[in-house]
Amino acid sequence: MTRRTLLAAVLLAAAPLSAPWAFGAAMAQTEQSRDPMIWPRIASPYGIDPAMEARIDALVGQMSVDQKVGQIIQAEIQSISPRDIRDYHIGSVLNGGGSTPADARVFPLALWVAAANAFYDASMDTSKGGLAIPVIWGTDAVHGANNVRGATLFPHNIGLGAANDPALMRDIGVATAREIAVTGVDWTFAPTVAVAEDIRWGRSYESYSSDPAIVAALSKELILGLQGHPALGNALDPDKVVATAKHFIGDGGTVGGIDQGDNILREEDLFARHGQGYVQALGVGAQTVMASFNSWNGEKLHGNRYLLTDVLKDRMGFDGVVVGDWNGHGQIEGCTDSSCPQAIMAGVDLVMVPEKWRAFYQNTVRQVKTGEITMARLDDAVRRNLRVKMRAGMFEDGRPSQHPLAARAHLIGYQDHRDLARRAVRQSLVLLKNDGVLPIARTARLLVTGSGADSVPMQAGGWSITWQGGDTTNEDFQGATTIIEGFRQAMPDGMVVTDASGEDFDIAVVVFGETPYAEFEGDLKDAGLRYHDNADTRRLQALAKVGVPTVAVYLGGRPREMQSVIDGSDAFVAAWLPGSEGGGVADVLVDGGDAHQFTGKLPFPWPSDQPGTTRWPLGFGRTYE
Ligand code: BGC
Ligand code: BGC
Repeated sequence: MTRRTLLAAVLLAAAPLSAPWAFGAAMAQTEQSRDPMIWPRIASPYGIDPAMEARIDALVGQMSVDQKVGQIIQAEIQSISPRDIRDYHIGSVLNGGGSTPADARVFPLALWVAAANAFYDASMDTSKGGLAIPVIWGTDAVHGANNVRGATLFPHNIGLGAANDPALMRDIGVATAREIAVTGVDWTFAPTVAVAEDIRWGRSYESYSSDPAIVAALSKELILGLQGHPALGNALDPDKVVATAKHFIGDGGTVGGIDQGDNILREEDLFARHGQGYVQALGVGAQTVMASFNSWNGEKLHGNRYLLTDVLKDRMGFDGVVVGDWNGHGQIEGCTDSSCPQAIMAGVDLVMVPEKWRAFYQNTVRQVKTGEITMARLDDAVRRNLRVKMRAGMFEDGRPSQHPLAARAHLIGYQDHRDLARRAVRQSLVLLKNDGVLPIARTARLLVTGSGADSVPMQAGGWSITWQGGDTTNEDFQGATTIIEGFRQAMPDGMVVTDASGEDFDIAVVVFGETPYAEFEGDLKDAGLRYHDNADTRRLQALAKVGVPTVAVYLGGRPREMQSVIDGSDAFVAAWLPGSEGGGVADVLVDGGDAHQFTGKLPFPWPSDQPGTTRWPLGFGRTYE
């Protein structure tokens, strides 16, 4: 009996007098009613390969409980050694935001590959018993290989939503997969398919758009680029990585935009608004889905068997791995970071236990022995992990250093990738206001000022070398181009100055905005969306006062209320979080041979200072007439 028919049988038994057809109507009346038929069934392009399944069965049949439990645990690289991986048969490792095998500030590519080799060798070492099963390494490469010094950093998702170009997304996926593969890492926790509905959420910039259709279309193409596809003949090839659709489900729709909060929605709306990215991701064969920290109608997703198992796996047909989020299981009622049979029984196949993996392992082994965790569920979780590893070729590819792209240093920050990122920046820019001061003449005497004018950290935002994006300087982003450097390149015959004292100039560009933040710390909570006056906005006002035409360029992870800035400047451009290739800004703002048209459109409505109203709608964006 499938879970669904089981559910129906249980419900029928509880209402023996109603006819089955009356039952559906009764269910539809309650908001809490659950109906897996709301969700579509989706065929994975990978299909089930009987030979592979037989191989998986043979392996599972030979594994001890200990090894099975190890296989479904993911630990953080700072908290586990290769010896531990061997002794506990740990199935997976991750490097969290800002965590690298060595000091992130120096970039010893060899250390990444050496770490990958050491983890792999340990997982294949059967001297202490057990079977050889390659360990899989996951990372947050959410806008390029952003934990790797010198990597190409693409615009964060909000900017790519503004560009809204599916073909561009495919190319970004291809380039990102390459830069990850060079380090010996197998898997990225991307794309985020969240639909941010309250942009006070600190992860709004990880969302492509508040429009589910844009999120779905762009995620799909990114996954195709990252993983390849059976029909393209390049599925999970050595220059590809495993992708993750995250965070399942409803992360962008929490009340008040509170990170890890509660999403209160009817199931139909949960699907319509937050499920579209998963439909596309599964359709192109995303091999992993990450469970979300948030709750749905008060219940934490990590413990939600209905959504993880009945809907995602049984109904939608997902046959890959549901990975937990960072101690997300520990937030389930009755669980701790080091013990949570509920998450496994609900359908998490690989539990992310960054630090307390050892205690978690011991508790899980015990819970399997007492039957709290059934063998059938454990075996299913193990099977899914083995399936993804086999599809990725990990049983055949050998040591990470033997992979074709391993340690190919020239591919980190490769010029073609940088050119692509710069194009993405050009396409992501949204022109919101232009009183005729743009484009800027190539021969102009130009002042470029503001805290963001010469700052890669501000361009890059969170998830860039460090987790929250703080504590970095331009030196941490080898090979990057700041916005002012871009103007200098674009205006060889002009005069680009950054210090205005005593200088005469024709026009001023003020680059300002948000300082870096990431999940949790970036929430605005009750603070609202107002962008408060500061040295940059005062500078803008002072320039306008003396009659200098001004262009305000906003760097930030979400639209903010800033009527005085908008009114006080002659042109206003949203540049979002463009990443390492700041030169893309001048490409569009400066007139001449290299000038490009504005094509970006708002991926979120721009809030106004009047509560409940919008300054500019979703989809708005001007062009040079
Ligand atoms: C985030 C995920 C991320 C994970 C691993 C969590 O805190 O929510 O998006 O993939 O950490 O770093
Ligand atoms: C993040 C990790 C990060 C860690 C730092 C987590 O929530 O997802 O990527 O390294 O916090 O404590």
